Amino acid sequence: MKFKEMLKIELRKDENFPKNFLNILPRGYQELNHIAILNLKPELRIYANQIAKSMHEILPSLKAIWHRSGEIQGKFRQPQGLAHLWGDPKSEIILTENHVRYKFDFTKIMFAKGNVTERRILPTRIKEGETIIDMFAGIGYFSLGMARTKKPKKIYSIEWNPEAYNYLCENIRLNHVDSIITPIFGDCKEKIVELKENNICADRIIMGLLPAPVDAISSALSVINNNGGVIVYEGVEGKESTELFREFSEIANREGFLTSLIERRIVKIYKPHLYHVVIEILVKKKELF
Ligand SMILES: C[S@@+](CC[C@H](N)C(=O)[O-])C[C@H]1O[C@@H](n2cnc3c(N)ncnc32)[C@H](O)[C@@H]1O
Repeated sequence: MKFKEMLKIELRKDENFPKNFLNILPRGYQELNHIAILNLKPELRIYANQIAKSMHEILPSLKAIWHRSGEIQGKFRQPQGLAHLWGDPKSEIILTENHVRYKFDFTKIMFAKGNVTERRILPTRIKEGETIIDMFAGIGYFSLGMARTKKPKKIYSIEWNPEAYNYLCENIRLNHVDSIITPIFGDCKEKIVELKENNICADRIIMGLLPAPVDAISSALSVINNNGGVIVYEGVEGKESTELFREFSEIANREGFLTSLIERRIVKIYKPHLYHVVIEILVKKKELF
């Protein structure tokens, strides 16, 4: 039986729960390590504790239930409005996915379960001996998986949120990839200048940030290998759209680069008719062609 139907049956037994609200109960929830994170319609929020109690009755394997009232927001892309409803109040977890261990506090750090396939595929695309720069590394969403393949020579993982950076450092140790990943704290646009000053350039650059980090394209191009390289760029666009690639190419052309699209992957639905998309672009200085 579907979650919403089970919840309705349980809440019908609760005299204090208004029966006219049964139809607006949530159809699902996010689950991280047996911790459920609910997002209730505003009218239901005063009944959050009753809903959590019923949820615990029908799903006894849950360790805790939380409510999230806000979206992922701000320059650090953090989840907003998390409130504990029931069970173990600890919010720091270690989640294992695709053989990678991610430690983080889910009240402060985003972890999009919907990106699981991309976290698995992206590391399979890298080539032996590559030097990689992960410009928006977070807690190591992509860096850790890439490093675990043992293929890259070096990954420079840049993150400017101190809390995410601390988890990135901890996750590097937890996954035993200290010899491959160098974590760097700060704004990626500034840190790329420093990498360049130290004669470091990249065969591949990961630009995993939403909305699309248009303002960081020039920085990425400035540190790409002289023989060219691959930029993995994220954004939101229509299912068949080529807008993301067009916008990227326009900037790259202005900076003296030619571009060709290697692959386009749809990560997940973002909003009705809009998709979270990843494109892999080969970039080369015009004079190399
Ligand atoms: C949350 S991750 C993106 C997650 C990943 N794309 C995914 O979907 O799983 C983006 C990270 O980039 C960081 N960030 C944003 N702008 C930055 C900048 N200019 N320099 C360094 N880090 C930045 C944010 O703090 C955040 O941790």
